[in-house]
Amino acid sequence: MPRAVLIGPPGAGKSSVARQLGRILDCQVVDTDSVIEKKSGKTISEIFVEDGETKFREIEREVVLDEIKNNESVLALGGGSVLNAEVAQSLRDNSVPVIYLEVSISQAAPRVGFNKDRPLLTMNPRQQWLALMEVRRPIYEGLASFKVNTDNRKPAEVAAEIAGFLGAVS
Ligand code: S3P
Repeated sequence: MPRAVLIGPPGAGKSSVARQLGRILDCQVVDTDSVIEKKSGKTISEIFVEDGETKFREIEREVVLDEIKNNESVLALGGGSVLNAEVAQSLRDNSVPVIYLEVSISQAAPRVGFNKDRPLLTMNPRQQWLALMEVRRPIYEGLASFKVNTDNRKPAEVAAEIAGFLGAVS
């Protein structure tokens, strides 16, 4: 079982915080988007453009379920992966410490760049991000064992707070 699973929207800082948390816990860090890219030999954007979002979600489901089952490090999940019912159930069944990284649109925007390689946010990125969050906020909240706000905070500071929580529960 992973030591911690980080969830939250694009721009929440999941990958950076995961890296810092890995340092504190002295363990490896896995980013499921990177696993998907390695496995398919394509970037996330290429998968969206060439194969479509449905195909991407299929690969993502498989990769994320496998990591939840077999990974023993810190796991950063792609922002949309927990919308899959099996993924959500697997996190609940395995009592994995799920950390929800909260962020406001004003902070997420510059982090994501909103012009970068994020296929879901290419048109009206702000509006799309807010629309995603309408649907996802209750899901993120419902799965979280711990919620941490990342606004105006350095990844190391957020990671230290998470480590404190993990220490308290392990
Ligand atoms: C997605 C988030 C992305 C990536 C894909 C879809 C989403 O990962 O998996 O573009 O649906 O929110 P990040 O959360 O790391 O940006």
